[in-house]
Amino acid sequence: MSTPRKIIIDTDPGQDDAVAILLALACPDELEVLGITCVAGNVPLALTQKNARIVCELAGKPEVRVFAGCDAPLKRKLVTAEHVHGKTGLDGPVLPDPVMQLESQHAVDFIIETLRAEPSGTVTLCPLGPLTNVAKAFDQAPDIAARVQEIVLMGGGYFEGGNITPTAEFNIYVDPDAAKIVFEAGAPIVVMPLDVTHKALVTKPRNDAFRALGTPVGLAVAEMTDFFERFDKEKYGSSGAPLHDPCVTAYLLKPELFTGRHINVEIETVSELTLGMTVADWWRVTERKPNATFIGDVDADGFFALLTERLARL
Ligand code: BDR
Ligand code: CA
Repeated sequence: MSTPRKIIIDTDPGQDDAVAILLALACPDELEVLGITCVAGNVPLALTQKNARIVCELAGKPEVRVFAGCDAPLKRKLVTAEHVHGKTGLDGPVLPDPVMQLESQHAVDFIIETLRAEPSGTVTLCPLGPLTNVAKAFDQAPDIAARVQEIVLMGGGYFEGGNITPTAEFNIYVDPDAAKIVFEAGAPIVVMPLDVTHKALVTKPRNDAFRALGTPVGLAVAEMTDFFERFDKEKYGSSGAPLHDPCVTAYLLKPELFTGRHINVEIETVSELTLGMTVADWWRVTERKPNATFIGDVDADGFFALLTERLARL
C-alpha cells in the first residue's frame, strides 16, 4: 500500500466543512491530516476553531492538531453566514464542547513551517473557507508556494453564478484579495466551484443513508445536513441542499468521480458589482495562461456512496 497523502485542511466549520473533515479523518490509510487550520468565515474564528475541535472529537480523533488563524479578511470587514449555518456554525446536532486543546501556534506559521519542513511537493492544502490563512502564508513566505503538491479548494462558481451575490460564491467573496494571491501563486490548483457542488445534493434518501449508519457520526451528519437543507432547499428549489466542502476530500480519495477543465481563472477584486467573482475562461476565449483545474461535474451517486461508506468507519 502506498503512503497516505499529507494534507492540511484550512477551514471555517460550517456543517459541510465538518463533513469534509470527518471524511478525511475516516481515511487514515489514504490521507494523513497534518493539521487543521481555522479561519474566520461562516462564523467568527472563536467558533470555527472550537467547531473544528468538536468535529475531531466526534470522529474520535482528539490527537489531531487544530490551529487558529486569521480572524478577519486581509483588507475587508468579515462577512459571515449564520443565515445558512446557524448561530454556532454547526447548528443541528447537539454536540459536547471540546476537551482537546487548541495548538498555541498561529495557523499561518504552522502552514509555513510545515511546507518548509516536509519534502517539497508532498503537502496538499485543502481550503474549505475564505483563503485568508493560505494567502497570508504565501505572502509572508514566498518560497512555500513552489513546495505545495496541490491546492484542492472549494470556492467560486461560473455557470451557476454566486450564492452570496449574483456573481460571487461565499468563500471567494469574503476575501477576494486573498483568493487573488492564491490563484496567482503558481501552485497547482483544483477548484470545486458551485458548478459542481450544486450537483452534490443531499436528497432525502442520501440523508436517510447517513442516519441509517446508526453511529454517532452518521446521526450527527444527518442532523447537520438536515439543518442547512431547510435554508438551501427553499433558496434553490432543489431536491436537497448542496454538500460543498466534502467534494474536496472526495476528490483526494477518488478523483475519477469528477471532471473539469484546466483553464484560466481570475478573481475580481475591484468592481463593487461583481466583487469576488471567479472569472473562469471555460471556453478558452482568451490567451490567459491556465492556472487551475475548474471542476464542472461529479458522479453524485458515486460521491454519496463513497461518503457514506467511509463515514461508517468512524
Ligand atoms: C461555501 O461557503 C460556506 O458557507 C460553505 O461552508 C462552503 O465552504 C459554499 O459557498
Ligand atoms: Ca466552508
